[in-house]
Amino acid sequence: MKTLLYVDAHPLTAAESKTLQVADAFVAAWQTANPTGHIETLKLSEANIPTLDKDVFGTWLKQKKIGLGAPLAMSADENALLSQFNTLIDQFVNADVVVFANPMWNHFLPAILKQYLDDVLQAGVAFKYTAHGPVGLLSDKQIIHIQSAGGVYDHTSMRADFGDAYLQAMVEFIGLSIDDEYHTIFIEGADSNPAQRDAIITAAKTEAQNLAVTL
Ligand SMILES: Cc1cc2nc3c(=O)[nH]c(=O)nc-3n(C[C@H](O)[C@H](O)[C@H](O)COP(=O)(O)O)c2cc1C
Repeated sequence: MKTLLYVDAHPLTAAESKTLQVADAFVAAWQTANPTGHIETLKLSEANIPTLDKDVFGTWLKQKKIGLGAPLAMSADENALLSQFNTLIDQFVNADVVVFANPMWNHFLPAILKQYLDDVLQAGVAFKYTAHGPVGLLSDKQIIHIQSAGGVYDHTSMRADFGDAYLQAMVEFIGLSIDDEYHTIFIEGADSNPAQRDAIITAAKTEAQNLAVTL
């Protein structure tokens, strides 16, 4: 049984978001094509995604010291924090298909999605350091980036859509293939060309549905 993780990085609902309308169409088509598939939805704005603050680093430091044999007991709060990270990391690592759905904000991803990636793409889990540089540890995972932007972007230019360029870099960094394991659906230009809004959404939904049935 395959698992799809739908990482929803939009604070609103599909009724208000082009991104989520297209992402929902992708997920529904995937479920039809994979009737036994399991879907997990992670709405980041409602999921209490931890920020990497002083408490988190303090807990990680303590965990390392305990690992080295220091007699430090974890507090209930520290254990809860570690378990929260483990849950998020396991969910990402175990998913066969991961859908990232976000609006473009100031040429990048919403900060909460960057925060989520900082939480789950950790050394020892997603990649490891070696004498010859970092090596990705993940494999057999399909990543889909669904993103809506007001304008229309040249995705071959690093100076336009930093969010997608960054996701691509991270996907390669953790061991996946951009050619075979990374797919994009862009919903672009509805703000600059409102007369085309419905046509832009419909075309992106069709593209998403056609992709979903192949994964
Ligand atoms: C804070 C903010 C920043 C934005 N920055 C950009 C941008 O850099 N480039 C762009 O084309 N559109 C930008 N937009 C417009 C949105 O990306 C665009 O309206 C998108 O279609 C929203 O998707 P949605 O319908 O899912 O909310 C921005 C919107 C907001 C609210």
